[in-house]
Amino acid sequence: MAIFIDSSDPKEIQELYGWGVLSGVTTNPLIIAREAPDADLGERIREVLKVSWGDVSVELTTETEREQLEEALVYHAWDRERICIKVPMSEHGLRVVHALTKKGIKTNVTCMMAMNQAYLAALAGATYVSIFSGRVKDLGYDVRPVISSTRTILEREGLPAKIIVGSMRSMFDINEALEAGAHIPTITPPLLRKMVHHPRTESTIEEFNNAWRNRGSKK
Ligand code: E4P
Repeated sequence: MAIFIDSSDPKEIQELYGWGVLSGVTTNPLIIAREAPDADLGERIREVLKVSWGDVSVELTTETEREQLEEALVYHAWDRERICIKVPMSEHGLRVVHALTKKGIKTNVTCMMAMNQAYLAALAGATYVSIFSGRVKDLGYDVRPVISSTRTILEREGLPAKIIVGSMRSMFDINEALEAGAHIPTITPPLLRKMVHHPRTESTIEEFNNAWRNRGSKK
């Protein structure tokens, strides 16, 4: 079991890695465009690498097979151990995954909504298969069978791919993904912070602190 952080913000990533609960980072073009529209992608990712450990997923922004293979090699050179190439699921995306796998380059096949997609990605050699919980649910479908059937098939076939569940919108989504068989939830910083808190925890701590501060005052 592991938790990844779904962010490209080096400050947030450094702060939250300090908790000792994270072991990887996922980014995507939308996250980077929102968090740092003017940033140079290479500089941003190098900053992220400095303040984290474990795999850092960087998504391809080009669209053809040839461009994607070239782009992947540029990202891979930033850190040959830790950069994981995030490949959007498509027919030529599978070819890209297969080619990168043969070169020993890690891949994270992304934007997947169904078990059949995740199965193909795992067969092509993906290190990670990413299922998008919130986006499946936006369409009115239950994501739990997608996750659990993917876990079942990966185990039955002996495929080493790990299931990342992203596109998490709530605490419920995280709990549901973990119970259904996700290996790794990837969680945004605000949602990760929410995992720490519970109103009853906070009122209990306050009660204990007050009792300690006021001890002896009723003698
Ligand atoms: C996962 O790897 C993705 O970066 C992310 O979770 C997508 O989430 P979204 O649906 O909020 O864009």
